[in-house]
Amino acid sequence: KRPIIIDTDPGIDDAVALAIALYSDQLDVRLITTVAGNVSLDKVTFNALRLMKFFNKDVPVAAGARRPLIKEPIDASDIHGPTGMDGYDFEQPDEGQLLQEHAVNAMRRVIMDSEAPVTIVPIGPLTNIALLLHMYPEVKERIAEIVLMGGSTGRGNAGVMAEFNIYADPEAAKIVFQSGLPLVMVGLDVGLKALVYPEDSEKLKVMNKTGHMMYQLFQKYRGGSMKTGLKMYDSCAVAYLLRPDMFEVAETFVDVELNGSLTSGCTVVDLKNYLKQPANAKVCVDIDPHLFKQWFMESLQKCN
Ligand code: BDR
Ligand code: CA
Repeated sequence: KRPIIIDTDPGIDDAVALAIALYSDQLDVRLITTVAGNVSLDKVTFNALRLMKFFNKDVPVAAGARRPLIKEPIDASDIHGPTGMDGYDFEQPDEGQLLQEHAVNAMRRVIMDSEAPVTIVPIGPLTNIALLLHMYPEVKERIAEIVLMGGSTGRGNAGVMAEFNIYADPEAAKIVFQSGLPLVMVGLDVGLKALVYPEDSEKLKVMNKTGHMMYQLFQKYRGGSMKTGLKMYDSCAVAYLLRPDMFEVAETFVDVELNGSLTSGCTVVDLKNYLKQPANAKVCVDIDPHLFKQWFMESLQKCN
């Protein structure tokens, strides 16, 4: 089993990605860390604990950064609802599952204690990961890969040219892209094609307890406008870990625009090598949407 840490801001699509990862027999989720993003740190941490209770999984949860490195916080409560995970009446979580350790320290400990190098899967803003790399550079040798949901080779979803996770903390993203670690960018190019339609949601409703919960969350995701497809962005990062064959990947140079007056938070993906820089990331430029849908439904069938 591949040891992974998931850094997340649940988040309705985060909840789906967590379900798939936690029930996969190929992944060993050692730690879940939370970061302010879709909603505040307290809310996303509460949501992570609610999900652990729902799934009956005892993976430790550690709370991380309360705000971005430099930029003022933004949120996406318009997409995920005021709680960040609206639509389902979860049981009160077990607060005992929350570590008394900051996420960055917990990540360091888990990475250094692991017998095999750990893969990090950030599906929120990259604040915790940037802090980890700067505070504890010794972890770099023990990280197998960072497979992150974020960025885009083209248009954005939080700004004209910026994807939400990068836009929320561009300085942190820049630190991660410049880290020299093996990176996989799973961004909007694939996330916008990983869609759940009303008919899929109806199947989930009767699939199992998890499917039923997702069905209810989906009624609130993006105000319930499901006809054009709900985007399963964060599940794409987990999909890459389990089924890289579904993706088309380009190895290329990526950097993050910080100061562009119109483009701050944009990932500059140099697919044509204008900048003559060595490649620092594998960028997922396409996905087979049919294979994805098949994989997605099969994966959720493994849940309780
Ligand atoms: C990303 O932004 C968040 O709203 C989602 O959870 C996902 O991680 C997509 O741009
Ligand atoms: Ca997310």
